[in-house]
Amino acid sequence: MIRIDIQKNSSSKISSIDFNNLGFGEFFTDHLFQANYEHDDWITPVIKPMDKIAIHPGNSTLHYGQAIFEGLKAYRKANNDIQLFRPEKNIDRFNKSATRLCMPQVPKDLFLSAIKSLVDLERKWVPERKYGSLYIRPFMFANEAFLGVRPAEKYTMIIILSPVGSYYNKPLNVKVERNFTRAVRGGIGSAKAAANYAASLYPMQQAKKQGYDQLIWTDGQNHNNVEELGTANFFAVIDNKLCTPKASDSILEGVTRDSIIQLARHLGIEVDDNGVSVTQMEEAYRTGSLTECFSTGTAAVISSIVSIDFDNFKAEFNTNFPIAGLLKNTLMDIQFGSNKDIFNWTVKV
Ligand code: COI
Repeated sequence: MIRIDIQKNSSSKISSIDFNNLGFGEFFTDHLFQANYEHDDWITPVIKPMDKIAIHPGNSTLHYGQAIFEGLKAYRKANNDIQLFRPEKNIDRFNKSATRLCMPQVPKDLFLSAIKSLVDLERKWVPERKYGSLYIRPFMFANEAFLGVRPAEKYTMIIILSPVGSYYNKPLNVKVERNFTRAVRGGIGSAKAAANYAASLYPMQQAKKQGYDQLIWTDGQNHNNVEELGTANFFAVIDNKLCTPKASDSILEGVTRDSIIQLARHLGIEVDDNGVSVTQMEEAYRTGSLTECFSTGTAAVISSIVSIDFDNFKAEFNTNFPIAGLLKNTLMDIQFGSNKDIFNWTVKV
């Protein structure tokens, strides 16, 4: 086991935080984890006071975007125990993203003990359930100054923590995006690469200007297969069946997506994870069998959709979302420890 050096901050900012109004990703805790990679090895893993990092202007991440990240959360149980939700899934996905971006693997034991030690040190920052949870953001970037286009040889991995409330504060009005594409076949869409989020910004900004909260991404070839919703995965309830886009190299397979599929099957809800098309949704809406749509993600948890603009018509949904509501409550009760963890998903800190 690699030893993590712990250097404590002599002061804390926690008293300046209004836990009633956390928003998403606006506040950061007092410490971060950092490890550097060079000569084929992770060196100097340390937990130290939160501070700025110095970057050389020739750093290749700033030029060519060799950067990946993850998102998971720590939850406060009613008895004040703190637990993580399926952290191994995020660690595996991080290393899969690293492979796609020619970056080094982070050993699982180092990664998990970094998360646990950092969250343990910052446990007072984990909000009570009524306020939210503690978002954990691990990320890695090339940390070498050179301007040739090649994978770097030096990297930095950092974990920061942010107490968060809801990502969305109301159900979403969305449109189907048929011009822009988030990711294409053979691209980096299944990696949690910073570049995928950069590609999404302009279309999202346009959608917001047109009055939508988010957009439904469609495939880059025919713009008819649904891929994702904003920065999260997509689900539609058609004929009481949960339908979701098929995993592919243009879709980021979420930990929440996987958990919802397993929970739904456990609750007796049929799941079709072989894809859902825009045409299928339009027809199902017209016949009355498309009854709910929602997105799933660590940040978004489960966020329901109140309207979808299909270009030629607008679909509107009843706002009581019975299936999304049931799945959300069941999932959150496991995450916050008020329901039995039948799948063994939680990890105590
Ligand atoms: C997450 O749900 O963790 C995400 O990655 C969304 C984030 C980019 C806000």
